[in-house]
Amino acid sequence: MSKMWSGRFREPLDHTFEQWQRSFPFDWRLLPQEIAASSAHARMIAAAGILTDAELAKMLDGLASIIPQVTKDYSSKILDKSVGPAIVASSPDAEDIHHFVELELTKAIGDLALKLHTGRSRNEQIATDMRLFVRDAIDATLVGLHNWRIALAGLAKSAGDAVMPSYTHLQRAEPVLVAHWLLAYVSMVERDSSRLIDARQRMNLCPLGSGAVAGATLPLNRTIAATALGFDAPTPNSMDATSDRDFALEFTQAIATLGIHISRFAEELTLYSTAEFGFLDLPERFSTGSSAMPQKKNPDLTELIRGKSGRLLGAATTLATLIKGLPLAYNKDLQEGQEPVFDAADTIAGILSVLPKFTASLQFRFDRMKTASESGYLNAMAAATYLTHKGVPFRKAHEKIGNAVRLGLETGRELGELTIEELRGFGEEFSEDFFDSITLEATLDCHDVIGGTARGRVRAALEDTERRIALE
Ligand code: ARG
Repeated sequence: MSKMWSGRFREPLDHTFEQWQRSFPFDWRLLPQEIAASSAHARMIAAAGILTDAELAKMLDGLASIIPQVTKDYSSKILDKSVGPAIVASSPDAEDIHHFVELELTKAIGDLALKLHTGRSRNEQIATDMRLFVRDAIDATLVGLHNWRIALAGLAKSAGDAVMPSYTHLQRAEPVLVAHWLLAYVSMVERDSSRLIDARQRMNLCPLGSGAVAGATLPLNRTIAATALGFDAPTPNSMDATSDRDFALEFTQAIATLGIHISRFAEELTLYSTAEFGFLDLPERFSTGSSAMPQKKNPDLTELIRGKSGRLLGAATTLATLIKGLPLAYNKDLQEGQEPVFDAADTIAGILSVLPKFTASLQFRFDRMKTASESGYLNAMAAATYLTHKGVPFRKAHEKIGNAVRLGLETGRELGELTIEELRGFGEEFSEDFFDSITLEATLDCHDVIGGTARGRVRAALEDTERRIALE
């Protein structure tokens, strides 16, 4: 009886089909989750009188023995990928992870193992295993994001009052503090973290006891399994529970959004490290050379991150396409939803294993950033604001400063290099204090609003960020 379902079949399976439809070559990764879920199910059927206390103890020991790393108590475990090939090769008959655990348990404790499937279905098992996997992946991602925020905040702190140009349309716009720019990414990461926390909370319900589609055929106390696995409660509807993959979709979508943010950071650093910008020297430890051009130092890390974010979007798209139009309840199509989830979890784990270290080791060329902030009329808005303080309507102020910029462009000078007489030619409101109002410092500090780049505001924002990180 090597199959879990062969009773009604007269013919053996076509060998090619049999091999092709197996999920064990990839779902072996769910081994810790499957053992935890099976142990929880065993407790539930023992409480329903299917197993004696001694049988339950034997079954739990048997399950725990399947891989030594897996303990009876479920805790965060994402299996090391290197163990996969050996596990898969060890069980060529296993159709999927559920079958594998049953076969191994039978080896360990004999026929008692065959009682484990009482009152359950693989449909609820896979839904449970995947939720457990996604929950672990969310927790691991949150740790990685915490580390990246520490690196970003540390870099922002060490940048002090250093300035850089900000860009709109990739044209120089206004000067900002380097710290302000870095804290923009902290804001993105905080939204990403909250999306993951939110998804985790929503998915933290236990499908066990849902049966194949209509609910377990035994009067199980589903709270026993939910509690054993750290879920908040059992899922409320068996049809939904066995066919729902929202949690996987939300996870991949949240990770894809995170990937989009990280790719923007990666792109900015790639750009800023070019000779044309020269805002930073790429850390050698995280760069590569060219086999052909001896002078090259290439930003492979940021380029790869940019590329991998496309892969994360691919995972989310696969999931969405898979679920769209799928009739209730379980369909084998859902098996195809596993690999994108694993891949998204691995990809983001890989990115977050290097990104915080890379970020912490960045060395900016503050002199070049400052020089770039001092030319190109980045103080024109501050200059127009000066005039509004003198009572000039902004639209008119904009026009007058525009005229001054034009004179500057024609004569190769910045606004601060024009004479007061020349300025007065554009409006009698200009006086000597104009020059103080358009220095780099004044240009920064005139943005004295919550969320603005005034130095005091950025210092306060950084302190708030540090406080939030410390509270996590
Ligand atoms: N390997 C299957 C999957 O990943 C497990 C559930 C199988 N259920 C079934 N009725 N064939 O979806």
